[in-house]
Amino acid sequence: MRIVIVDSYADMSVTAARLVRNAIVERSRLVLGLATGGTQVGMYRELVRMHKEEGLDFSGVITFNLDEYLGLGPGDPTSYYTYMHENFFNHVNVKPENIHIPDGKTLDPEATCRAYEEAIAAAGGIDLQILGIGVNGHIGFNEPGTPFDSVTRPVNLTRSTILANKRFFLSEDMVPRRALSMGIKTIMNARRIILLASGRGKARAIAGTVEGPVTCELPSSVLQLHPDVTLIIDREASSLLRGRYRVQGTEDSPGLAAEV
Ligand code: F6R
Repeated sequence: MRIVIVDSYADMSVTAARLVRNAIVERSRLVLGLATGGTQVGMYRELVRMHKEEGLDFSGVITFNLDEYLGLGPGDPTSYYTYMHENFFNHVNVKPENIHIPDGKTLDPEATCRAYEEAIAAAGGIDLQILGIGVNGHIGFNEPGTPFDSVTRPVNLTRSTILANKRFFLSEDMVPRRALSMGIKTIMNARRIILLASGRGKARAIAGTVEGPVTCELPSSVLQLHPDVTLIIDREASSLLRGRYRVQGTEDSPGLAAEV
């Protein structure tokens, strides 16, 4: 696991966007796994800037989003479909046919999830998966207790996630209780993973992810078993790490970077 500790949310966003840009430059037909949430907004803003000002070309990129609320979709202001289009897809040249987001409006969630797994496989698997992390250590909507062999499926959200996400809704009652989410196995099958975290609220989950035991009670801890994971976290999110991390700045990692 590679840890990049940066000063601020802005540095986290730019660092992550640069790594995504490098991956696209290396492989124009990149299969890119994407996340939503407050953490990712700055990275999308920087990727949009790179497209508009530097000509970063997304025309070959194939995207798969991690999750969607069950019952929400296009036309719903709080769906992840809307989030992705407003923050990213409407401003870059990803081809609409290359965009994949689980269909939250589906009448057959199980079949939709099976088809999603098949679409990922047909695209050749995910080259680079971007992740955020829940305060309870969830990745995607894989809540504590999720088996490590889980694949894309309908899931129930925990109270902690409903409370954390109510800020995006008019009231807590309006937060959907269910979602469709890639599984832990789906995520672990990605060839490379970048996880972003910002703020003190994520510090406990980050400490467990890096230094705790690998347990399905903290889903993100499974990342210790993946061969190519980079955490890009700001100082606050890193504040409960006990280890001493080596300074290792690079052009694309302006902060303090370290190997553990
Ligand atoms: C969203 C997702 C979630 C979020 C996590 C953090 O697609 O998969 O795991 O990444 O809940 O959300 P924020 O960034 O809003 O704190």
